[in-house]
Amino acid sequence: MPFTSYFALFCSVAASLHAYSHAVPPPLNLTFSLRNLFTAKWSWSPPAGLNNSNCLIEYISEVNKNSPEWTVQLSREGDLDLNNGTEFRVKASNTCQNHMAAEWATIFIPPPSGDFKSSVMNFECLMYMMGYMNCTWMPGIYSDYNLYYWYRYLEKVQSCKQYIYIGGIRQGCHFQPHDLMWKNIKDTIIYIFVNGSKENSTKPFFYKNNLLNIVKPTPPNILSVTVVKDSVQLKWEEPPGFNKECLLYQINYKSIRASNWMPISTRENSASVPIDPHIQYAFKVRSKYDTCGDGSWSEWSNVKESEHIYQMDRIIYIAPVVAVMLL
Ligand SMILES: *[C@@H]1O[C@H](CO)[C@@H](O)[C@H](O)[C@H]1NC(C)=O
Ligand SMILES: *[C@@H]1O[C@H](CO)[C@@H](O)[C@H](O)[C@H]1NC(C)=O
Ligand SMILES: *[C@@H]1O[C@H](CO)[C@@H](O)[C@H](O)[C@H]1NC(C)=O
Ligand SMILES: *[C@@H]1O[C@H](CO)[C@@H](O)[C@H](O)[C@H]1NC(C)=O
Ligand SMILES: *[C@@H]1O[C@H](CO)[C@@H](O)[C@H](O)[C@H]1NC(C)=O
Ligand SMILES: *[C@@H]1O[C@H](CO)[C@@H](O)[C@H](O)[C@H]1NC(C)=O
Repeated sequence: MPFTSYFALFCSVAASLHAYSHAVPPPLNLTFSLRNLFTAKWSWSPPAGLNNSNCLIEYISEVNKNSPEWTVQLSREGDLDLNNGTEFRVKASNTCQNHMAAEWATIFIPPPSGDFKSSVMNFECLMYMMGYMNCTWMPGIYSDYNLYYWYRYLEKVQSCKQYIYIGGIRQGCHFQPHDLMWKNIKDTIIYIFVNGSKENSTKPFFYKNNLLNIVKPTPPNILSVTVVKDSVQLKWEEPPGFNKECLLYQINYKSIRASNWMPISTRENSASVPIDPHIQYAFKVRSKYDTCGDGSWSEWSNVKESEHIYQMDRIIYIAPVVAVMLL
């Protein structure tokens, strides 16, 4: 590039920098309204002085410095973080000077207050059959907790229909397909809120997760372990209530005297495991909902052992060999 072109380019960049040397001011009158317990709608007005009608004004917003969204609208909806609070911020950009710095307008919605020691602990939700979910917790310093839940197919926040009691104390909530309106759900975030019934200082606990990522099937049930020559045919019952294509199985097997298990994976509900027929083996199986979500492994099934039926085989196999040698 000849020097003169360089110079011209430099001058034009410098000129445009000079023309827009002020950062775009922040949007005005940023406010929020709560849509329900779990979501809010933020609204704002255009920044002062951005009134050049040739330039389209766009807004970039973030919730807790995450999930950026571009829009020309003057509002946005989003999820609240009820554990740590929710910082919402928005800035304007106009198409004539979109490379310029812009100032954020920021607003913070604090989490519900209360003493952390009063909050539930070890909160966990697991779906063990499609549509059947148990959420469980350890009580904090109080014991009377209430669970509320919502996801986008439900009009209103719902309260738990069936609590799970351990030693007379509420320590969980049991959900059935009807509670979750299961037929509608594909890939859905569930929002849960657990507060105390005592007004004083119970810190509410907030949880959110994708239903397809909290699947933990019940363990498979081994139906039969059959020795066939130098392999074992293993069959098990699938955990109920799942699409077969979504399940992965792991079989662990070992000689009953060995300490290390050897793994095999399959998508069928049976397997043929090569073995040394002179040795007795132990087997166990577990399953995971994996291709359709990101669940966790089930517990292991009971351990089943292969039988001592190979002595017979050995005699049958050896006999012809001896006969041949005698000839
Ligand atoms: C911002 O809010 C104030 C007070 O409610 C109002 O007077 C003003 O017109 C609003 N500004 C814009 C740009 O909407
Ligand atoms: C529009 O912009 C001009 C200068 O850029 C300014 O003088 C004027 O007050 C603005 N008008 C409004 C309504 O903001
Ligand atoms: C949010 O709150 C949870 C539970 O109170 C805490 O474990 C976590 O560290 C907090 N996260 C951030 C980013 O502050
Ligand atoms: C879930 O809770 C129900 C009701 O208390 C109980 O019958 C069921 O065994 C629980 N399932 C699991 C996998 O924990
Ligand atoms: C717990 O939360 C629910 C749902 O927001 C609310 O209706 C209830 O009053 C709260 N209970 C207490 C004791 O704050
Ligand atoms: C909470 O309230 C109950 C009954 O109103 C009272 O007995 C208890 O001492 C209070 N706990 C705290 C930590 O203030």
